[in-house]
Amino acid sequence: MNVNGAVAVITGGASGIGFGVASALAKRGAKVVLADIEAERALAAAESLRDQGLEATSCYLDVIDQASWDATADLAFGHWDQAPQLLFNNAGVGGGTTVHATPERIWDWVFSVNIRGVYLGVKTFAPRMLASGLPGKIVNTASEHALGLPPNLRGGIVAPYTAAKHAVMGYSLCMRRDFVDTNLTAGVICPGLVESDIWNSFRNRHDTFGGARPRTIDGPNPMAHGLPAAAAGERIADQVERDDFFIFTNGPDEAEVLETFTAEANAAMAAFRTRYSV
Ligand code: NAI
Repeated sequence: MNVNGAVAVITGGASGIGFGVASALAKRGAKVVLADIEAERALAAAESLRDQGLEATSCYLDVIDQASWDATADLAFGHWDQAPQLLFNNAGVGGGTTVHATPERIWDWVFSVNIRGVYLGVKTFAPRMLASGLPGKIVNTASEHALGLPPNLRGGIVAPYTAAKHAVMGYSLCMRRDFVDTNLTAGVICPGLVESDIWNSFRNRHDTFGGARPRTIDGPNPMAHGLPAAAAGERIADQVERDDFFIFTNGPDEAEVLETFTAEANAAMAAFRTRYSV
C-alpha cells in the first residue's frame, strides 16, 4: 500500500524497532504518531523526526489500558484531521524464567503487554479504520519465536515471551481472515535479533505486576549483535508497501527457526500417517 501521506500509529514507537519503523515511514511521506508508555522519550523521538522536516507527533500510551487507547485514537484521528491507515502494534516486553519457575506476575505482565495490548489496539482502531473506508493495514509484531524456537537458544528465559508471541501469530492469522473483503489487510512481523532496548524491558513493568526494575549491564549491550533498528525499519516499511502478511527483518535466523519447526512437524506427521495408514 502507498504509505505516502498516510497517518501511521506505532506503539512502542519511542525505541528500537518501533522507532526504526516510524523513521522509515516518515521518510516515505507518512505522518507518524509515536505512542509509548515512555512519553518523554516518545516526545523527543518525534521531535527528532520533525527536526528532519518529517511529520510526527507523540503521545502517552499504555497498551494494556483501554482509556489510554481511546485517547491515542482520538489524537491519531484528530491531529491531521485524517483517519489513520496504518497501525503497528509493536510495543512488547521480554521476561521469564523456566516454564515451571516463572512467577505469575511476570507471566501476566508479558501476556498483558504482548497479546492483550495487541487485542486492545485492534479493538480500538479497527472499527474506526473500517468505517473510514480508506485502504489500511494493521501490523502486529510477533517474533521469530512465533515460528518456533531458535535452536541454539538456552532454556529458562523465554517461556511466557514465546507463548505470547505464538498468540500474536494466531491472532494475526484470524485478523487476516476477518479483514477479507474489507478496506483493511493484516500483517505480522517476525523479527530476528534487532538492536534495541528489549533486554531492559523491566524498566516499564507496571506496579501491579511487581514494578519497574531497570537493569544495568556490565560489558557490551546484549543486543549489540542485532541488526540495526533503522535497517529493520526500512525492510519492514518495504514489506508494508508490498502489503505482505508475513514480514521479516533478518533472514537467516528467522529461516532457521521456521525450517527447524517445519521439518520436525512434517517428520512427525509423516510418521503418524505411516503408523495409522492415513
Ligand atoms: P524496545 O524495548 O527497544 O522497544 C519497546 C518499546 O515498547 C519501548 O519504547 C517501550 O517503552 C514500549 N513499551 C513497553 N511497554 C509498553 C506498554 N505497556 N505500553 C506502551 N508501550 C510500551 O524493544 P524492541 O526490541 O524494539 O521491541 C519492539 C517489538 O519487537 C516487541 O514486540 C518485541 O517483542 C519485538 N521483537 C524484538 C526483537 C529484537 O531482537 N529486538 C526480536 C523479536 C521481536
